[in-house]
Amino acid sequence: MFDAPTARQLRRTDFPPDFRWGCSTSSYQIEGAVDEGGRGESIWDRFCAQPGRIRDASSGAVACDHYHRWPEDLDLAQSLGVNAYRFSIAWPRIQPSGRGPALQAGLDFYERLVDGMLERGLQPWATLYHWDLPQALQDAGGWVQRETVDAFVDYAGLVVRRLGDRVRHWITHNEPWCTAFLGHAEGCHAPGVQDFGAAIQVCHHLLLSHGLAVPVIRAACPGAQVGITLSLHPIHAASDSAADQAAVQRHDGLRNRWFLDPLHGRGYPADTLALLGDRAPQVAPGDLQAIATRTDFLGVNYYFPEEVADAPGQGPLATRVVEREGVPRTAFGWEVSPEGLVELLTRVQRDYTPGPIYLTENGSTWDDTLGPDDQVPDEQRLDYLARHLAAAREAMRQGVLLKGYFAWSLLDNFEWAEGYTRRFGLTYVDYPTQRRILKASGQWYARFLHA
Ligand code: NOJ
Repeated sequence: MFDAPTARQLRRTDFPPDFRWGCSTSSYQIEGAVDEGGRGESIWDRFCAQPGRIRDASSGAVACDHYHRWPEDLDLAQSLGVNAYRFSIAWPRIQPSGRGPALQAGLDFYERLVDGMLERGLQPWATLYHWDLPQALQDAGGWVQRETVDAFVDYAGLVVRRLGDRVRHWITHNEPWCTAFLGHAEGCHAPGVQDFGAAIQVCHHLLLSHGLAVPVIRAACPGAQVGITLSLHPIHAASDSAADQAAVQRHDGLRNRWFLDPLHGRGYPADTLALLGDRAPQVAPGDLQAIATRTDFLGVNYYFPEEVADAPGQGPLATRVVEREGVPRTAFGWEVSPEGLVELLTRVQRDYTPGPIYLTENGSTWDDTLGPDDQVPDEQRLDYLARHLAAAREAMRQGVLLKGYFAWSLLDNFEWAEGYTRRFGLTYVDYPTQRRILKASGQWYARFLHA
């Protein structure tokens, strides 16, 4: 159904006229200029400085130099024909130590950036936290500590009071699963902690800070549309065995329901809580009500489905992610599955009826090469994009209230622990010269959007 030739026939007019079309980036991954404008140190600056943390020993110190090149980058976004641009605000540019008054230079930068979007007909979608926590807050315990929740809510207020007259769409957190588990259990992301119990507490504090920030954002921005972005995955069993089916349930509990359930007023899933035992999070009275504060949309980042097997004695939930054989995979090894997107969205719609859903990220990484003719023939990314748009369309046909699609990413950028070895952009960035070259996928997206 989602074969590439058919998907490439898709037209923008196959989607409703008010559908939002965008592309996404995040501050640490593109901005660079880590010492400018009074910006404080973030946990990613500190993490990247530790040997062995980043595959190519790089950092976001320069990245795409977007801090200086943003007009050109917004021109590029505009030329694609998108009508929305999702970006994130670097907390350490606003509060270098994570607390105290806002730094005007930081707010000024984002105000100029947002004005640049508005001038170009790009609706700004601001994410408040895309992983660059001020290091000073980490030194005080970071997201494991409940005080960081209050700090985040203060920070959100500072930002929205300044930008709320021009930014209406606010995302509190990006992919809290990653912050919690990659950052605090696996330790492959900043702050590099390996403590499963800490990761569970971090989830709670991230969700709580989201819930407490929502009314603060609304108070500072009348008419605000507020949501959170989750990384969600369809989960399949490695075999028909009852043991593997049960593993799916356990894995889904922590991967998906751990976030979806409390956000939709159900509290933490009882089966997962029971498995966690004494590693269950500390929850104060009122926390769950705050987390369940009604939002205006749900942001979903979709990349791949996961297949899991029972693995007694392995991992906290006794499950193991296995690699299904014979399926197409991106250069990251992630399974390519547009069907998975339909499955995921219809499930979220059916089980939670969250209101409007936006795909706030979707994209793929391949070993792109810049040809002598200045072309980047990324046919695989083009197919991935077209097939996932076809899947998004199909999900809508099946009743999903999907209202927009944001491609990850406008630019190749700093891919966290993978450094610059993974390119996700619709635009190729030649890092030594900082030249931007629209890839074949970007050209296709532009033709699709302009048609
Ligand atoms: C999700 C994250 O939000 C983004 O920062 C990352 O670059 C992409 N996935 C690709 O891994």
